[in-house]
Amino acid sequence: MDSETLYLNGEFKPLDQGWIRVEDRGFQLGDGVYEVVKVMNGRLVWLDDHLQRLERSLAEVRLTEASAGHTFETVLPELVERSGLVDGMVYVQVTRGAARRDFVFPRPPHPTVLAYARVKKLPTEAEIFTGTALHPLEDQRWARCDIKSTNLLATVLAKEEAKEAGADEALFLDPQGVVREGGSSNVFAVLDGVLRTHPLSNRILWGITRLHVIEIAREMGWKVEERAFRIAEITSEAPADCEVFTASTLRDMSPVVRVGSHVIGEGRPGPVILAVLDRFRQVQAELVGLQPPRPLAPAR
Ligand code: PDD
Repeated sequence: MDSETLYLNGEFKPLDQGWIRVEDRGFQLGDGVYEVVKVMNGRLVWLDDHLQRLERSLAEVRLTEASAGHTFETVLPELVERSGLVDGMVYVQVTRGAARRDFVFPRPPHPTVLAYARVKKLPTEAEIFTGTALHPLEDQRWARCDIKSTNLLATVLAKEEAKEAGADEALFLDPQGVVREGGSSNVFAVLDGVLRTHPLSNRILWGITRLHVIEIAREMGWKVEERAFRIAEITSEAPADCEVFTASTLRDMSPVVRVGSHVIGEGRPGPVILAVLDRFRQVQAELVGLQPPRPLAPAR
């Protein structure tokens, strides 16, 4: 990567020369939305899905006018090219812009629109096999988790608590112990041969990775149900062959080997996860013009 390039309000410039005003509502009020898109081999993965979700988030916060004049479908590939980025991510953020501090909307708004590209390492094969540990806690977030908002304080605190507890990711539960999602990932369980995940609702982010995992698993012939499960179903009441994984743009599918103090299955990635992950990696490689990676699942 040659330099870190920023796209800010219609102009490209070096990232360290981009400035946001003190009264930007994104900074003061968290009045903004964002996207994170994976870059592989210099190409943006599932960009259309991310842009559709961005438009939806903007519509839900009544800020659709912000994207007028920004053709993200050409700006973001240009940003990746100008940055010389091969593997990593593009971060996009849109806020209701700078205005005298007030809670109600400025009329008209002067939105801040920015994007930049960053190198970001995907989990290595060794890390995939080591697996992820989840730290369960009660979901303290607001009731519109379907909006990809930059209001992330509850998530920041949850992920910090998870880290301090020796885990890699927070696991958000409702007051009845129903698994909603991870701190920055969706969560799947494989129970009795069925892949299960929380249905789309206001309580979870409608993950792009989640969407493609469901599609890929179904194409492979697995049964997938968008039906929530309780934490007890993957811990105290779990069958021996239970599998759990997270799904997110920057970590693909991450096998979970521990939830709290409970070891999942045999404490290593199970066969269903590895089979679906292999196909997932093939699909992404094809999409960006790479050779399929070496399979992770043992040959049968
Ligand atoms: N987070 N759930 C939450 C709460 C998330 O923040 C994310 C993504 C996901 C997975 O969505 P997707 O598959 O579309 O990345 C689920 C991004 C990567 C982040 O905030 O960094």
